[in-house]
Amino acid sequence: MTEGEANERFEGALNMSKEPIIETDRLILRPLTLDDAEACYSWNSDERVTKYMSYSTYTNISQTVDWIKSTFTDENEYNWAFVLKEENKVIGTGGIGPSAQMKGYWGIGYNLHYDYWHKGYCTEAMRAIINFAHKELGVNKICSDHAVDNPRSGKVMEKCGLKFDHYGEYTKLDGSQTFQAKFYKMELT
Ligand SMILES: CC(C)(COP(=O)(O)OP(=O)(O)OC[C@H]1O[C@@H](n2cnc3c(N)ncnc32)[C@H](O)[C@@H]1OP(=O)(O)O)[C@@H](O)C(=O)NCCC(=O)NCCS
Repeated sequence: MTEGEANERFEGALNMSKEPIIETDRLILRPLTLDDAEACYSWNSDERVTKYMSYSTYTNISQTVDWIKSTFTDENEYNWAFVLKEENKVIGTGGIGPSAQMKGYWGIGYNLHYDYWHKGYCTEAMRAIINFAHKELGVNKICSDHAVDNPRSGKVMEKCGLKFDHYGEYTKLDGSQTFQAKFYKMELT
């Protein structure tokens, strides 16, 4: 396949996706492709990033590939790759979809490569994603939760407009750990 054909196929895959391309000041949010596996694996395999995520720390890139593939067929959940314009590099992912914990709400989730924390990128991306869900999908109720020991994530929620609602807990998907958690919500008009 020539480079031109490969680019065409890449653009085609993006155009077919349910997630639109969203531009913010410093980021392009676009649908994930399998070409993002290496970038995503760089933080999926980093315990500093995965410690409080529901997925366990990945030890093989095939786990990242499987996750990206699952986003192609998941009709309810919307996921984006966060591309840093300045470096043309995928630095994180985030998404929104119907919440399993809070009926009628849509939950947000996100993770970023460790080197790009504390620069406001996650808040910038998630504000745009919430705005998309509200304006284009008619989603009015947003929720999320974070481990009590992971307050950095709570700051993102607060900066997106969510307010603390109650304490609870969540368990990693492999059942290995349960965390005390703070649950947040927001209602948009
Ligand atoms: C949670 C996580 C995504 C937050 O990323 P982050 O980049 O630190 O979050 P933000 O986008 O809100 O960055 C905010 C910080 O950047 C700083 N910042 C620097 N430049 C900024 C700018 N231009 N705009 C806004 N904030 C800026 C702010 O001071 C702010 O720090 P503060 O909240 O202490 O004031 C990241 O820590 C992560 O990937 N953690 C592991 C995965 C995880 O825990 N996910 C959530 C599970 S519930």
